[in-house]
Amino acid sequence: MNKLIIKIFERFNLTPISREQINKMAAHLAKKEEDLVELQNLVTQIQTANQKFSWIGEYLEWTEKLFGIGMFPVDKNTKLIASFTPGSSYFKLASKGIGVAELAVITDLLSDIQKNNVPGEVVEFGVFKGEWINRLYNIMGSVGLHREIWGFDSFKGLSKPSEKNDDPFWQEGMFCAGLDEVKRNVQIENRPNIRLVPDWFAESLKGMEARLLEKVSFARIDCDIYEPTVECLQFLESRLSHGSVLVFDDWSHDLRIGETKAFAEWVPTVPHLEFEFLFFSHWDHFQIRVWHVGKPRWPLGTISDRS
Ligand SMILES: C[S@@+](CC[C@H](N)C(=O)[O-])C[C@H]1O[C@@H](n2cnc3c(N)ncnc32)[C@H](O)[C@@H]1O
Repeated sequence: MNKLIIKIFERFNLTPISREQINKMAAHLAKKEEDLVELQNLVTQIQTANQKFSWIGEYLEWTEKLFGIGMFPVDKNTKLIASFTPGSSYFKLASKGIGVAELAVITDLLSDIQKNNVPGEVVEFGVFKGEWINRLYNIMGSVGLHREIWGFDSFKGLSKPSEKNDDPFWQEGMFCAGLDEVKRNVQIENRPNIRLVPDWFAESLKGMEARLLEKVSFARIDCDIYEPTVECLQFLESRLSHGSVLVFDDWSHDLRIGETKAFAEWVPTVPHLEFEFLFFSHWDHFQIRVWHVGKPRWPLGTISDRS
């Protein structure tokens, strides 16, 4: 069977394909040997794909030969990309620059919430040492958004990641900071609008205190892994206001794992909500606007130049 396929490839003058691909085709053909039309379609599809994507392979090979490092080509619309070695001083500088731009957009988003009277508090799921709580506190002060800031956390680090649903990078107990330390970091004594709610989300989000949190205008999910993200999204489904902002700090870009998987599974369970992509930034920060189906949306205002 493989010989047959190789012959077809020779006949059609196709670029070589891998043994694995040939085996797959052979398995397919075994069922439909006489069906030549189907076979020809298959060959045409592979031929088209080969033609369409051969430049990627050529570029990979060329960079490998010239520089000793095979590189994937970058989409022509992608401008913010660099090859600085992670951890190097140049990388830190570039990263700082993107961080500044991200904070500028977050400032505009919180200002939008204030100007459009989006009801609800500001919430972070996964606080660690309180860095983002402090940022949010300062930005909210600068745009005159007077809301509570809720921070939910175990204050014991990550719960156990799952082999199936999480990247192996994440480990149980990572990012552990105790409640007292975090209270000091966020200056809770002088900032009465900050509330820290300790415990595993599986407990805290079902507890009495969390019931006081009725509406949410801005939510950051920063618990890194799948299961707690599922719990946060379930908590949020009846609380996210029309026009609220939902941020994932560790978007996996992969529907099989992590926060992305949890979100993708949650979307069909909340038909009353619609989602608008706002922007994606470094360190896998992914921001979305949440709209209620059937309610009028307002113009995007200051962040409309994002496109
Ligand atoms: C990456 S850290 C958060 C970083 C933080 N947002 C900041 O500004 O630096 C992840 C946090 O999620 C918390 N976390 C992970 N799984 C949790 C769970 N199941 N219940 C409660 N907290 C959890 C961890 O304790 C940790 O503080």
